[in-house]
Amino acid sequence: MSAGSSSAGAAERRRFVNLAAAITATGGLLFGYDTGVISGALLFIRQDFELTSFLEGIIVSFLLVGAMVGALSGGPLSDRIGRRPTTLIAAIIFGVGAMAVAFAPSVAFIVLGRFLLGLGVGLASMIVPLYIAEIAPADRRGALVSLNQLMITIGILLSYIVGVLFTPIEGWRWMFGVALIPALILGIGMFSLPESPRWLFEHGRMDKARQVLGRSRSPEEVDQELQEMQDIKNQEGNQERVSYAELLAPFVRPALIIGIGLAIFQQITGINTVIYYAPTILQGVGFSEGGAIAATALGVGVVNVGFTILAVRIIDRAGRRPLLLIGLVGMTISLALLGTVFASGATGDNSTVLSGVLATVCLAVYIASFAISLGPVFWLMISEIYPLRIRGTAMSVASIANWGSNFLVALTFPVLLAALGGATLFWIFAFLGIVAWVFIYFRVPETKNRSLEEIEASFRGTTVSTGRVR
Ligand code: GLC
Repeated sequence: MSAGSSSAGAAERRRFVNLAAAITATGGLLFGYDTGVISGALLFIRQDFELTSFLEGIIVSFLLVGAMVGALSGGPLSDRIGRRPTTLIAAIIFGVGAMAVAFAPSVAFIVLGRFLLGLGVGLASMIVPLYIAEIAPADRRGALVSLNQLMITIGILLSYIVGVLFTPIEGWRWMFGVALIPALILGIGMFSLPESPRWLFEHGRMDKARQVLGRSRSPEEVDQELQEMQDIKNQEGNQERVSYAELLAPFVRPALIIGIGLAIFQQITGINTVIYYAPTILQGVGFSEGGAIAATALGVGVVNVGFTILAVRIIDRAGRRPLLLIGLVGMTISLALLGTVFASGATGDNSTVLSGVLATVCLAVYIASFAISLGPVFWLMISEIYPLRIRGTAMSVASIANWGSNFLVALTFPVLLAALGGATLFWIFAFLGIVAWVFIYFRVPETKNRSLEEIEASFRGTTVSTGRVR
C-alpha cells in the first residue's frame, strides 16, 4: 500500500467513527430536549387543562419515572439483543412519545406521553455512551463519548429556545412535536450503522466483529484489539449465563461502587435544581420576572454548552480525574458563595444590584465547573469501567441510581427551599460537593488512553497483551 492510500484509509476510518458517534449522540439531543422542554410548555398546558398543582407535578415527574424504567431495561436488553436494536427501540419510543403529547386529547395522554418520552430518555442515557465507547478507539474515546453530554446540553438549550419561539402562539404542542425530527434522524441513522464490534465478539460473531472493527482501525489495530478481547474471554473461563449476581463478583464490586457513587453525586450536588429552577433562584435575589429570567436561563444553557465543548476538547489529554477534581472545587466554592449571598439577607425585597450580580456569577461558575467534570465524566466513566460480559446491565444500575437521585432532588427541592431557605440548602449542596471530591480522590481511577480491555484487566488484577499500535 502506498503512503497516500494508507493515509486516505486513516481519514476514512476517522470519518466513520465520527459519523457513528454523531448519529448515536442524537439520542443525547433528545435526552436534553425532552427533559428541558417541559419548563416552557407547562405554563400553557396549565391554562389549557386547568391543571391542579398535583397534576402538574405528575406531568413533570412522569418523565423521570419513565427514565428509571428505561434505564432499568436498557442494560439487560442491550446485552441480550445488541446495542443497535436497543438504540432503534429508543428512537421509536421517542417518536411515539413526542406524538402522544403533541396530539394529546386529555391530561391522561400527556402523562402517558411523558412516561414514554422518559422511557426513551432512560434508554438513550445508557445505550448511547455504551455504543460509542465500544466503537471508539481508546485515545479518542473520551471526546467521542462526551459528544453525548454535549448533545444533551445542546438539547436543553434548544428546548429553551423553542420554548421562547413558540410562546407567542402558545404552541406547547409544537414544542413537543418538533422532537419527532431528531427521533427520525436517530432511527434512520441507526439503520446505516453496524452493531458494536465488542457485542459481536461477546456473542461469538468473530468475523463480523473483525469486519466492523476494520472500518475504524488499521489492520494491526484490529488484530491487537481482538487479541485483547480474547485475553479477557480466556480469563473469564466458561460461565454460560449472565446473571445479576455477577455484578457482585469481587472484581466488579469496586466499579459498581464508583458508578453508583458518581451517579448519585452528579445529582445531589444540585445540577438540575439550577438547570430547572435558575429563574426561581434568580428571582429570589432581585431579578424581575419575564425577559430577564428567560435571558438568564438561556445564559445557563449557553455556558453549559460552551464548557462542555471545552471538556470534549481536553478530556483525552487532561484525563478524567483532574477534570473531576478541579470541576468539583469550582462547584463547591460557587455553591458555598451562593449560599452566602442568600445568608447575607440581600434577597427578596432587600436584594441589591451586588447580590444579583454575585448570584449570577456563582451560577455561571457552578455550571461551567459541572460542565467540565461530573456532567460528561459520569456518563463516560460508566461506559468504561465495567466488564464487557455485563457492561449493559451494570450501566443500567448506575443509570437508575442517577435517575432515582434526579427524581428525589427534583421532588424535594421546592419543599426544602421553602423549609430551609436558600442559604442552608446551597451550603448542603456545597458540603456534598466536598464529600464527592473525597470519594473521587480515593476511589475513581484514571481511564484515559487505556483500552476497555486494559481497564477491565486492571479491575481483575490481571493484564492483557501489550504492544499496542497507538
Ligand atoms: C447530565 C445530567 C443531567 C443534567 C445534565 C445537564 O447529563 O445527567 O441530569 O440535566 O447533565 O447538563
